[in-house]
Amino acid sequence: MEFNLAVLPGDGVGPEVTGEGIKVLQAIGSRFGHSFNLHYGLVGGMAIDQQGTALSPDTLKMCRSCNAVLLGAVGGPRWDDPQAKVHPEDGLLALRKGLGLFANLRPVKVFPMLVDSTNLKPNVIDGVDFIFVRELTGGLYFARPKRRWQTSRGRRATDTMTYSEQEIERIVRVGFELARRRRKKLVSVDKANVLQSSRLWRQVAVEVAADYPDVELEHMLVDACSMRLIQNPTYFDVLVTENMFGDILTDEASMLAGSMGMLPSASLAGVPQGGVNIFGMYEPIHGSAPRRAGLNMANPVAIILSVAMMLRYSFGLVKEAGAIESAVEQVLHQDYRTYDIMDEGKTKVGTKEMGDLIAGRVGG
Ligand code: IPM
Ligand code: MG
Repeated sequence: MEFNLAVLPGDGVGPEVTGEGIKVLQAIGSRFGHSFNLHYGLVGGMAIDQQGTALSPDTLKMCRSCNAVLLGAVGGPRWDDPQAKVHPEDGLLALRKGLGLFANLRPVKVFPMLVDSTNLKPNVIDGVDFIFVRELTGGLYFARPKRRWQTSRGRRATDTMTYSEQEIERIVRVGFELARRRRKKLVSVDKANVLQSSRLWRQVAVEVAADYPDVELEHMLVDACSMRLIQNPTYFDVLVTENMFGDILTDEASMLAGSMGMLPSASLAGVPQGGVNIFGMYEPIHGSAPRRAGLNMANPVAIILSVAMMLRYSFGLVKEAGAIESAVEQVLHQDYRTYDIMDEGKTKVGTKEMGDLIAGRVGG
């Protein structure tokens, strides 16, 4: 089969890890007989420098014309000035909104051979395998009013937490669909003891649950959830939550996996149901890590696993996705480690070498 892919390498370590993701994708192409046409574009700081905007209308259009988008990372100290008119992160938000990517999937899976490389006790994190579904185009990030102004008594600023029932319904449905294909347990995270938007969220979640009698729904307050994630992370299967809660909880959850360099993500424009290909953007959870850029250090596993998610959700290539995931497991099993997951007695490798090792096993 033939697919069109928009590739936005971005800033910092973005281009390096993206190169390894593409390497593995091409290995899949030659083994399984698919061709991937790559369309490169600028986003983030690089786009600000060269085009004066963090995401040009042409790049957005190019992304829309493809089957999926692969993104490296954006941002860096060069563009950090809070007074600046544009920030690299604006490019990311414009992609999410402009491409209608309302469903952000962030799986957290602890590889058994890495249980010793986290800050938590091995017996707490052994067997952790859950997936966060974060709402990505609403809530405090996007809802209006959103502004800052001057009053006679000083400066004020506001952001708005608004959700419509349609926005809640489609994201909760994503949670149920995923849970149905996993261990059938969905935790909906809110702050319904205080927030009106959360009370509506909870009500809509209960209504949608009627369509999924095979899935058990539990409501959990966000503060309690943040505690439970550390205390008993194997408790969770699928979690669904609004944009800002999801931003915070997924960073917390990423620490269970030892390194952010291991975690992929998908941002989808539709509800994943078996056999349906959905437009999506795929990126590692980690940022641009400017201090590591150009040093052949960054761990490419996160973007490589993001490529696997892309094959599964946007291209419908489930077997091929599995081939990548098992190649990653083999390489870790054979004790190869990038600096961020390095341990005594293991073999330290750089970005390129890790990519070569995984691509080699995919080519199998
Ligand atoms: C994330 C990031 C972004 C977010 C930033 C870079 C805008 O933290 O993807 O979680 O807050 O959504
Ligand atoms: Mg975040």
